[in-house]
Parts: sequence; C-alpha cells; structure tokens
Amino acid sequence: MAHVTRRNFLGTASLAAAGAAMGPWVRRAGAQAGPVKIGLVLPYSGVYAVLGESITQGMELVFARENWTVGGRKIEMIKEDDEMQPPVGIRKTEKLIDSDKVDILTGPVHSGILMGMRDKVHNSKTILIVSNAGADAISRERCSKWIFRTSFSNWQPNQPMGEWVAKHVSKDVFIAAPNYQAGKDQLGAFKETFVPAGGKLVGEDYPKLGETDYAPYLTKIRQSGAKAVYAFFSGSDAVNFVKQYDQFGLKQSIKLTGAGFLTEPDVLPAQGKSALGVITGHFYTPLLDNPTNQRFVKEFQAKFGGKMPDGFACQGYDTAEVIVRALKAVNGNTQDKPKLVEVIEKSEFDSPRGRFRFDPKTHNVIQPFIYIREVREVAGGINNVPIDRVANVTDPGTGCTLPRPPPLPLWTGAARPGWSRGDDPQRFRGSACRVICLRRR
Ligand code: PHB
Repeated sequence: MAHVTRRNFLGTASLAAAGAAMGPWVRRAGAQAGPVKIGLVLPYSGVYAVLGESITQGMELVFARENWTVGGRKIEMIKEDDEMQPPVGIRKTEKLIDSDKVDILTGPVHSGILMGMRDKVHNSKTILIVSNAGADAISRERCSKWIFRTSFSNWQPNQPMGEWVAKHVSKDVFIAAPNYQAGKDQLGAFKETFVPAGGKLVGEDYPKLGETDYAPYLTKIRQSGAKAVYAFFSGSDAVNFVKQYDQFGLKQSIKLTGAGFLTEPDVLPAQGKSALGVITGHFYTPLLDNPTNQRFVKEFQAKFGGKMPDGFACQGYDTAEVIVRALKAVNGNTQDKPKLVEVIEKSEFDSPRGRFRFDPKTHNVIQPFIYIREVREVAGGINNVPIDRVANVTDPGTGCTLPRPPPLPLWTGAARPGWSRGDDPQRFRGSACRVICLRRR
C-alpha cells in the first residue's frame, strides 16, 4: 500500500471535495479526456475486401475534414479485419467491445456476420452503426435500440426492381445470388413485386459465396429459356459473374439486371466493357447532380488517387457524418449512451445520396431514391447512368418493436395523416384530454 503523508492526503481529499462540488457532469467530462474510439469490423481481405476499403475511405474523408477532432476529443479508428468469416467477425467484435472499450462500432459488410454480432452488441448496449450488411431481420424482428443502419436493408434496392423489370425488361427471368442470407433476402425482395406484376421465374440458383467458375450456372441459364437474368453479386463475385456472363455469349441475348452492387464503381474498372448495358437498382451513383455529391466525388477523387466513389464509400461517409454530428450534439460526452442514441435518431443532413434520415420505427435509413441505372460509356469512363427512380424507399420493418416516435405534445384539433378526426387518440392529449377523455370514458 502506498504511504499516505499528511500532504498527499490533503491533496487527495481536496480533489475529491472539488469533484463533488463540480457535480457529476464536470467529473464525467474530465474522465472523457481520451480519444473517441470507433471500432471497425470490416473485410480487408476476401471477396468483399474492396467494399471494406471504400467504406473506410468514406469515413476517413469526413474525419479528415474535421481534423480528426470532434467535440474536443480526438477520433481514433480501430480497424479489424473480419476476414469474411462469422466466427472471426464475432471474436473481433468482442475484442473491440470488451478490451478496447470502443465508444461506437461500425461495419460489417456480410449479413451473416451482422447476425452473429447482434446479441453481443445489444446485450452490451454498444452503439452499432451498420455501414453495409443488409440483413433484413436487423430492421425487423431482430432490431435493437442500439443498432442503426446507414447503408440499406437488403430489401430496399431490390423490391422496386421486381415490378420495374417485369414492366420494362421481361416477364421471363432467371434469378441468381450467392448462397447465404443476403442472397436470399435480396432475391426474396425482388420476387415480392416481380411475381404480382405478372413475372414468371424460369429458374433460380445460389452458387457459393466466393465462386470463381460460373460456367455450370451460365449453362443452366442458357437452357432455361430466360429472356433476362436478375442477380445479386458483389466484390470479386460481381467481377467474375459479369465477365463470364459476357465471355459465355449471354450478354446479347439475355438482358442482365440486378441489385446495384453488381456494377458499382469498385468493380466496374475490372469488368470493363463486359458491364455495358447492365441495368441495376441502387440508392446511389456518383453521377447524381446534387451539390453535396459533386463535392464528395471531387474530394474523394483528390484524396484517393482519382478513385471513383461507390455506394460503399457513400455509406462510410454517411456513417462518419452521423458520428460527427452526434458527438458535436453531446459535446464529446459519449458516456450517456441513451442520450447518444437519442441524438443519432434525429440525424438529418444532405448526403451525397440526397436527404439522409433514419426511420424512427426501425433505425434503418430511408432511401431518398432507388435509382434504376444502366451502365453506359460517359465522359470520364464507364458508369451507372440513372434512367428512372422510385422515391422514399422505406423497409417495412415488420416485427420491429422499437418504441414509436413520441406522441404529439398538445391537442391541435387536427388528426394525424391516416386517421379520421374522430378516431385519432393523439388528438386528445394534455389538458384537452382531461376534459374530453374523461367525458369519453
Ligand atoms: C450483405 O451480406 O448484406 C451484403 C454484402 C455485399 C453487398 C450487399 C450486401 O454488396
């Protein structure tokens, strides 16, 4: 035990007294002098390595703009490679939460890893801002007060495409995706509107994630009588599928369509002319002409050697933007987690994709638009040109039990949209309720 002299006893006692006099807020702020730790669980190797890199770069762009200091505290990013393996992703999540004691977590890319991380995050009350993985369940029966998503639910880019493909491309379609949760979610959302619009599924296949030889699947497609294909592949899977589809000679006779990830700028340079004419649905294209996007594309290219930003970089940018705004709102105090959740819920800003906001019912981003895009040769190279769009695409959130937004504070006499005047219980609140509600009982 340390020897306590009269002098250091008095020093300690007066510090304690000063702490008590300052009150809990000041003492807490004092204890928060260190950096804000942001843990990243992302693939920096494997099929989706390019996605992990783009998300990280999008975040770095925003933090660099803030000189890596927000709310009086340094920003420290702790990057962990999940190697695209759920057990590794879960182990890295535990390390970031239990050993590094991160303030906020972000990632992953892979839906299976997100599902594996979910309970650890929820039970430890760690704030997770999902910056890619689209597992629908996270906006539905497995939603959590502590989990937000800035990217998309797997449903969002695909559900509008079912009807669009049936109407504008073909009613005889073969569908394909990697054999794991995201593949099933994404094609499920496509079917949801394709079949009611009169579409017929002439075949369906699920190669393994990381397949390198699609020949057996392309043979099946050729023999199926399909007039179009709808596919979800991403990262190196998207490069291999699109190139082999062209080399197999299917491109001219069977129109290739899919979820936007199939032809994002992370894979377009490797796909080259094989990608020309492919039609996909996505919330972003670097060709959007809003001022935030124009600045984003310019600054991203300047910082990362001329690289064209993709949807993943936009997701990283929006994740960092949400974090920066929340930290400013709480003056850098990350200890009051419910308060941090409250301010994150209210995030609203101009993102490169349009006006960014979360759905309070699910904590999932509302997509301002899903763009239907065609790969064309445009000034500056091959890119996704928007040809149509669907507004305000919101995940249905079925089964999510997050608290609803707070009720209207006062009786206004007006009913909310969707309610008739006599039925809306929120019409009778506050002092008006004391009179009217008593009379109604
Ligand atoms: C996912 O696993 O949720 C996932 C992966 C890659 C994408 C989109 C979704 O491009």
